[in-house]
Formats: sequence, structure tokens, C-alpha cells
Amino acid sequence: MKKSINTKEYKSEYRILKSPEEIKKLHEKALSSAYRQTYHIQPVSGLLNDPNGFVYQKGKWHLFYQWCPWGAFHGMKHWYQISSDDLITWKNKGVFLRPNTYFDNRGVFSGSALVKDDDIYLYYTGIHGDQTTDMMASTCIAKLKEDGRSQKFSAPLFGPNPEYTREQRDPKILFDHNTNKYYILMGGQTKDLKGCILVYESEKHNSGWHFKGQLKVPGYEDFGSMWECPSLERISNQDVLIFCPQNLHLEDHGQGTNHNGYLIGSMDFNTLTFTPEGTFGLLDFGFDSYAAQCAANLDDDSKAILIAWMGLPGGTYPTDQEEWSGCLTLPRELTIRHKRLIQRPLPQILSLRGNRINPGLGILPAATEILIATYPQDFNMRLCCKGDGSGGILIDYNDKTQVFTMDRSGMTNRFNQEIGEVRSRILEHGLTSLRIFIDNSSIEIFVNDGDAVFSSRIFPEMNEHNYIVNECRSLHIYEMHSGIKESLVV
Ligand code: FRU
Repeated sequence: MKKSINTKEYKSEYRILKSPEEIKKLHEKALSSAYRQTYHIQPVSGLLNDPNGFVYQKGKWHLFYQWCPWGAFHGMKHWYQISSDDLITWKNKGVFLRPNTYFDNRGVFSGSALVKDDDIYLYYTGIHGDQTTDMMASTCIAKLKEDGRSQKFSAPLFGPNPEYTREQRDPKILFDHNTNKYYILMGGQTKDLKGCILVYESEKHNSGWHFKGQLKVPGYEDFGSMWECPSLERISNQDVLIFCPQNLHLEDHGQGTNHNGYLIGSMDFNTLTFTPEGTFGLLDFGFDSYAAQCAANLDDDSKAILIAWMGLPGGTYPTDQEEWSGCLTLPRELTIRHKRLIQRPLPQILSLRGNRINPGLGILPAATEILIATYPQDFNMRLCCKGDGSGGILIDYNDKTQVFTMDRSGMTNRFNQEIGEVRSRILEHGLTSLRIFIDNSSIEIFVNDGDAVFSSRIFPEMNEHNYIVNECRSLHIYEMHSGIKESLVV
């Protein structure tokens, strides 16, 4: 978080959106982009980052995202609202939270949702700053009213904790049935610059909050310099702690230093300890995935529904030139198998399946689903390559070493090269199947029925829509219909 604001920057990037007219041109420019997605959530203009306030209630899915209307940069953050009946087709609803109070005059940062007595409450970080004081993060609350608008509470639930650095944000609200209390987990940083989670407790969801302490996570006391977007999910009677450690090198994640991962284990709010039963696992093995959030208020304890930002802090993308950036991943169903999180596309994504494409053609539609069953042997394919089979994304599996690799260095448009262009993962049980979703500027590869996912942005040129594949048991390709209507609702 930057310390103070310089006047020029404040005026251009840090202003509140008041009317659609202000972004009409930016919106039209974004619409004319060759890289506009057809079935992924993307911003009407400017930059999208974290999903926020994801919640299910009475047959409706509510979702919000971090949004800077003014361009492809992390300027003044608003919460933009979208909603869906099926998690596949989404409607733009407009700005939900504007940075228009003392406590959030420099941005409405990420947060989560809670359903209480049929009402939906949103918990978020308000960032206050002015030309003289340092940034201050407060934990704030708003209600989603019947008419779909927001009603902010006049005062924050609590302010910054002086025992930690200013890096405190992203409240995750939850209710614990053992202690019968509410908890808020906050991403934080100790004064000796170690990432951590701060835990607040209350008997009521909307008042009486106090600092309970720092979450103990044995073995993870020195694991990155800041933990963003913490979350705690209960899936099939196991606790899953999800967070984004920063400034950390992980062996299986290239040269990137920002990660989104999880620990499976057990949570005890009395002792404030999360005891991991295993090691930190990455949620996604691709290049662009961060700030994942699970939907609150599901009535099924055997799974969670997760969605993430298909982007990275500090990343730059080719559409930055067109003054827009960012999209979300497909929502996924999360389950646990053999102490590992399994991520599968939702069954209802089938409703977007269009015509079957003849695999003999060697050409991919811009929005497509590919299903492959492999033989127990080496496998490789190139996607989004040129007509002569060169370039593109190389997908390779070496049966001897069991290493599965995705390499995007063959694409004409290369970006974020400093974090590496190759990602791999060992498949202990070999490669059996791939389910791949390509949209105009993204690819999500589900390996072995959700055992690993590789999500990445890609920006193919006009001549990069071919593919080649070596021997496989079966190959099906479908065109995908559009799931999301573009409409400038502000
Ligand atoms: C993660 C993050 C959050 C913060 C938000 C600001 O990408 O940095 O920690 O609340 O983005 O947009």
C-alpha cells in the first residue's frame, strides 16, 4: 500500500465514478477489443481484480468485484455488482460500493458476505488517505437492500490494529458453531514483515467486535511477507484455510512471488490455531490466478464454489493498451479427495456448449471447450498455434517423469515474462484426461477430472487459432456460446 498521495495522481486515478457518461468512451473501446471474453466475467471499463462478497441466497448468486473504472491500473477501487441465477449467465447491476465516505475515500477494498436473518451483509476494507496522513484501513460493513442498492453503516466495525503494519485488509466473515460466535479473518503483516492472519471476534455480526489474536498456523510462521484475502471453508468435515502469501518463492510456481493456495487441517477458535494436516498446496498451477473467494451460505457441506481473479498483482497484460484489464475464472466446484482440493467446472457449464467441431479441421473457435482422454503414454499438443503447427501453447506430459507442463512462450504476445513462461506439476497417477476451456483471451486446463487446474490469460493473434495433438484415446471439441451480456450499467 502506497504511503501518501501526490496531487496529480489523486486527481486522475483517484476519483469517484458518478455517471455512465464518464466511461462511455472507455467502455466502447473495451468492446471493440479482439480480446473481449464471451463467457467470463470482465469489467465494463478499466480494471477488474478480486472477486468480492460472493454469496448465494434464495436461488440467486450475488457477486462483486474490485473495479477501477478509469483504466488498466490499480486506481480508485469501487465494488461492481453482478448477479446470476445459474452461475453461468451473469447480469451487470452497476456500482455497489463507491469510495464516498471519510473511511473509504481512497478505495473500497476486498471483502466478503454473510447472510443473517435473510439479509445480506457485506464486509469490506475502507481505505482512508489524504495528502497529509498515511493510509488507514478500516473494516466496514454495508447491507444489500431489497432494491439491490447498498446501505453503508456510518462507522467502521473496527479500525487498524496498531500492533501490526498498515497492511491489514480483506475481511472474511464467518460464524463458528462450536463457539457460537462470529469471526472476521483479516490479511495482515507483523511488524517484522511476516504474513499472518488477524482474528476478530464478536457475539453479534454488526457490533461488539474485538481483536482475539493472531492465528497460529504451525509451520507457517515465516511464509511470505503479507497474506492477502484469507478465507476458511468447511468442506466434508475438514477445514480449509485459503490465503495469498506474497513475496515468496515456491519451487513449483516458477519465478512468481504472489500465490494463492490452501492448507487442509483443523481450526480451533478457542486456541486460535489452525493445525495443517499436510503442506501448502497451490489452488491453481497456471500463470494467472489470485484472490480466490468461495460463495457464502451454500446449503451443501460437501463442496464449495470458488471463483478467482484471472490475474496477478503487479502483472501487466496486452489489453492495458486498450485501457481495460482483468477477468474472473470460471466458477468451480471444490471438493476434497485424498487430502487435496479438487476443482471441477460446474455441471451447468454444459448449457453453453454449442456445435461440435470436426477435430479434423485443426482450427479452434475463439470460445471453445476441448475434451481429451489420453493413453497411458507421453502426450503433447499445441493450442492456439499457427497454421503450420508452430508456436502457441505447448501442453506436454512425460510419462516417465510424470511431469505435466504448460508452456506459453510460443505465443506471439508474451507478457509477464519475468515470472517465467513454463508451469509444471507432477501427476502421481499419470495423465488420463484434460478438459480445456478457451475464451478469447484465457485458457483453463482441468487435468484428470479436477486434480490440477492451470488458468492463464493468453492473447492470440489472428493467425493463432490452430491446434495439433498427438495420439489420444478421444478428442471432442465444442464451440461455446456466450454467457454474459455486455451492458453499460453503472
Ligand atoms: C488483492 C488485493 C487485496 C486488496 C485489493 C485491492 O489483489 O491487493 O488485498 O483488498 O486487492 O484492490
